[in-house]
Amino acid sequence: MKKVAVNLQEFLRTRKETIEHHLPIYVKQLNAPPILKESMLYSLEAGGKRLRPILVLALLHAYGKNEEQGLPIGCAVEMIHTYSLIHDDLPCMDDDDLRRGKPTNHKVFGEAAAVLAGDGLLTEAFRVIATLDMVSAEKRIALIKELSAAIGAEGMVGGQVADMEAEGKKVTPAELEAIHAMKTAKLLSFSIVAGAILSDAPNVEIERLRQFGFHIGIAFQIRDDILDLEGSEDKIGKRIGSDTANEKTTYPSMLTLTGAKEKLNDHIQSAKGLLYELSLEKELLTELCELIGNRDH
Ligand code: IPE
Ligand code: IPE
Ligand code: MG
Ligand code: MG
Ligand code: MG
Repeated sequence: MKKVAVNLQEFLRTRKETIEHHLPIYVKQLNAPPILKESMLYSLEAGGKRLRPILVLALLHAYGKNEEQGLPIGCAVEMIHTYSLIHDDLPCMDDDDLRRGKPTNHKVFGEAAAVLAGDGLLTEAFRVIATLDMVSAEKRIALIKELSAAIGAEGMVGGQVADMEAEGKKVTPAELEAIHAMKTAKLLSFSIVAGAILSDAPNVEIERLRQFGFHIGIAFQIRDDILDLEGSEDKIGKRIGSDTANEKTTYPSMLTLTGAKEKLNDHIQSAKGLLYELSLEKELLTELCELIGNRDH
């Protein structure tokens, strides 16, 4: 196998740059009302960690493949993630006014435009995948099937409903884990599975990587909930205390901050453990696990 050792910070910086160069192109080229494009671009270009597309590229990198073929899928995932954030911030949902260090989409463009900007990003993302060149029709269908399962009623959308239903209520640890899995882990896991599919990884490895994605996804949301309590608004680019104001059931609210940190660490360890027995370079993915566990934004 090709040696792919790389410095994590350098990997994150350079891939973020490449993704941010390509991301707006998909929206700018649309023959659509200018105000719609403006509101889609406003949220898409506001920054963010770009973790989901970075994970697609990281998988290709770890399998020693050409990362370039993961770029359109990575952009599609980021469009979907951005749509989910626009809707998540709406007054009828988490009612937040700051995102990625800027006023939320509905604060600038109004609620109707924000809903439609989200709808536009979601739908255009599927067009990006359906029209991928250099990827076989069979793989494009597999990717669309995976993505729709990850973000539909059994995935992110269902998870967002369950998250709201749980506000102000006592839920069991299993129910909370299921909410996190649906609303956050499934999309993160999609990025990983998509990278593996594009890398022609064997099915048994794809299934192992799906589990890996589940653990880092749950860990990612636990860290998000911890940062909502003890993060810095400047660093996370959103208001802290949003979950408390909305009476969200989170790992810190259920287990205390210490308990949540332990649970987070358990998931990071489980994720790392799953990397053994895979025919890929483990260093980068191991470092990404650490980052997800320790991140301050
Ligand atoms: C925030 O995601 C929403 C969650 C699923 C916790 P990110 O923390 O990845 O947000 P950006 O993309 O960096 O802004
Ligand atoms: C969001 O969870 C999950 C999504 C699917 C968007 P949060 O509501 O905790 O995300 P933030 O904290 O607003 O980014
Ligand atoms: Mg929310
Ligand atoms: Mg929110
Ligand atoms: Mg949050």
